[in-house]
Amino acid sequence: MNTHKRPTILIVDDERLQRDGLQRALEDRYDVLAADDVSKATGILETQPVDVLLTDLRMPGDDGLKLLRRAGSLSNPPVSIMMTAYGSIENAVEAMKAGAYHYVTKPVNLDELDLVIGRALKSRQIEAENVNLHEQLDQKFGLENLIGQSPAMLQMFDIIRQVAPTRASVLITGETGTGKELVAHAVHNLSPRKGGPFIAVHAAALPTTLLESELFGHEKGAFTGAVERRAGRFEMADGGTIFLDEVGELEPAMQVKLLRVLEERKFERVGGNKTIEVDVRLVAATNRDLKKMVAEGKFRDDLFYRLSVVTVGLPPLRERRDDVPLLVATFNRQYSEENNVPVREITQEAINLLMAYDWPGNVRELRNALEQMVVLARGDRLTVRDIPAPIRTGADLTKISVVRPGVTMTVEEAERQLIVQALKETNGNRTKAADKIGMSRRTLHRKLKQYRLEAL
Ligand SMILES: Nc1ncnc2c1ncn2[C@@H]1O[C@H](COP(=O)(O)OP(=O)(O)OP(=O)(O)O)[C@@H](O)[C@H]1O
Ligand SMILES: [Mg+2]
Repeated sequence: MNTHKRPTILIVDDERLQRDGLQRALEDRYDVLAADDVSKATGILETQPVDVLLTDLRMPGDDGLKLLRRAGSLSNPPVSIMMTAYGSIENAVEAMKAGAYHYVTKPVNLDELDLVIGRALKSRQIEAENVNLHEQLDQKFGLENLIGQSPAMLQMFDIIRQVAPTRASVLITGETGTGKELVAHAVHNLSPRKGGPFIAVHAAALPTTLLESELFGHEKGAFTGAVERRAGRFEMADGGTIFLDEVGELEPAMQVKLLRVLEERKFERVGGNKTIEVDVRLVAATNRDLKKMVAEGKFRDDLFYRLSVVTVGLPPLRERRDDVPLLVATFNRQYSEENNVPVREITQEAINLLMAYDWPGNVRELRNALEQMVVLARGDRLTVRDIPAPIRTGADLTKISVVRPGVTMTVEEAERQLIVQALKETNGNRTKAADKIGMSRRTLHRKLKQYRLEAL
């Protein structure tokens, strides 16, 4: 809300006397607009910003509830106050459900109305400030949210820094949980568009017909249920970035439509013939192998080339195990703070084990594991025992080479030491030792043979 400008109020009432009376009472402090029915009021709301909507409930034609709902679906909705001659609980509840901020009965007491409007404006201002705050926070999130120092990640950061300021379409590929969405945000936030909108669309969530109107919007009456005109995501993203997630799931018909928008930067709303031009940067992501899909004829090659002007490939976590300790430390601190517990140290043994696991769910899975460990841990250190069982038993210690300060051990040597240590600590109890290391009892048995430790 502009603090220098007087707030704008729209009064909607079919009774002229009411309208004029309120207008006179309010116009010395507010810019007052008036309408005598819902359709005129809708027209005003769609064409100019209104801070407060003050509407009657019962009117010929559409009623005030309908207007409230429409107002609420605007991109910058006013706060709404409902007036009614019929002071019933049902009406009040209905009004609140439809999005009214407050409810006053007729005849309207002007002092009370004044108070309500004042409060409503205040609540709107706080909301606006909150939105701003979130936007500011979001803008800070460039690369610092992406944790990693492995060569693969450093190389990826370079690509992002280089491509972000341009307008090139970016295709982000990678398995689930590798951070594709974080990268999409970083591309936006490191671009000159960062002050503009970042609009995400999950392509797999909707069937083609709905997706089309979601992306391009629709005109009133375009199809059953299209009761009013709606702007699509491309329009909303004007001046900013649109993020098309799971782009590999797009059906052929949708692929054609998307291609046209990318080529011409123009489209029509569903059921409309007005051509709309937008200035939008496209970022897409997929966990599928799009090249293979192109080869198999499941994805249009022309669209693929349009989308992948630059490709950012996110490596799975198992191909950058060196990043695990850093991620573990970060999530440990984060979840400890979130849960108000002191940050616990993590044993080297536990870190090794986490490095040895393959993480099919990648960083997301690691993150969830750490949350679980922090929340459920009993001791003052996080040990192998605190690692969730499926991860403990799924880890294959031969996959890492253990480096200790000053000493480099072979994996076998490290594993051997781990087993000796565990048996010592459990007084030779094999079940407990296996549990402690995060191995099945059978594996332990095999390893004992392998390392000639059967006597222990
Ligand atoms: N490099 C990273 N540093 C810190 N957190 C990360 C990193 N990569 C992923 N995450 C975290 O892991 C979770 C999953 O990331 P994100 O949603 O970006 O993955 P995705 O690749 O989009 O996965 P999906 O294909 O399942 O949608 C998020 O909580 C995210 O914050
Ligand atoms: Mg994602």
